[in-house]
Amino acid sequence: MKKGKFIVLEGPDRCGKSTQAKMLVNHLIAQGKDVILTREPGGTDTAEKIRQIVLEPGLDIRPMTELLLYESSRAQHTQEKIIPALEQGKIVICERYTMSTCAYQGYGRGIDLKIIDTLNKIATLGTTPDLTLVFLMSDKYFIERGEYLFDDRLEQEDRAFREKMRKGYLEMLTRTPNAYLIDADKNIQMIQEEVLSLITKHRII
Ligand code: TMP
Repeated sequence: MKKGKFIVLEGPDRCGKSTQAKMLVNHLIAQGKDVILTREPGGTDTAEKIRQIVLEPGLDIRPMTELLLYESSRAQHTQEKIIPALEQGKIVICERYTMSTCAYQGYGRGIDLKIIDTLNKIATLGTTPDLTLVFLMSDKYFIERGEYLFDDRLEQEDRAFREKMRKGYLEMLTRTPNAYLIDADKNIQMIQEEVLSLITKHRII
C-alpha cells in the first residue's frame, strides 16, 4: 500500500533537472522528511548496468532494443526501489520516468506511443507520479550548457530530434494529471522557488 509521495523531474538533457533535484532533496531533508533521490535509466545495481549499455556512445542499438532496455531498467528500478520506498512512506524524487520514454523513443524515434504506454504500464506496475515537473529550455541554452560536456549516446542527437521531443513534452503536459511546465531558461533560484511552491501546493510538505 502506497503511503509516500512520488515526484518526477522531466525534461530534455541539460535542462537543469539534476541541480534542482539535489536542491529539492536537501530542502526536504532539512525539513526532517524521509526522502530518496533516484534516477532513470538506473537507480539500482542491475538498472545501472542497463544504463551503461543503453548510453554507451557508438554502440549499435536499434530503436526497439533501446525502448526495451529503458523499460527493463524501469521494471527493475520500480520493483526493487520505488515501490518499497513509497510503501515505507518515503518521498521518492526521481530524475526521469515514463514521460522520458514517450518523449525520446515515442516523439523522438517515432515508435508508436500506444506500444510505449503498454510497456510503461507493465514496467511500472501501474505506479504513477503524484507530481511531474517538466523543465523546458530554449535550444540556445542546450548548446551553451553543453560546450564543455561529454555527450552520451542520446545527447548526440540533432536539433530536429530535440524539437520533436520538446513538442512531445508540451503535448503530454496537456494530458498528464499533476504535471507542470517549468521555464528552465530562468535562473536557478527562481526555478527552485517555483519547484517549492508546487511541492507545497501538492501537500508534499
Ligand atoms: P540523463 O541521466 O543524463 O538524463 O541521461 C539519460 C539519457 O537517456 C537522456 O539522454 C534521456 C534518455 N532516456 C531515454 O531516451 N528514454 C528513457 O526512457 C529515459 C528514462 C531516458
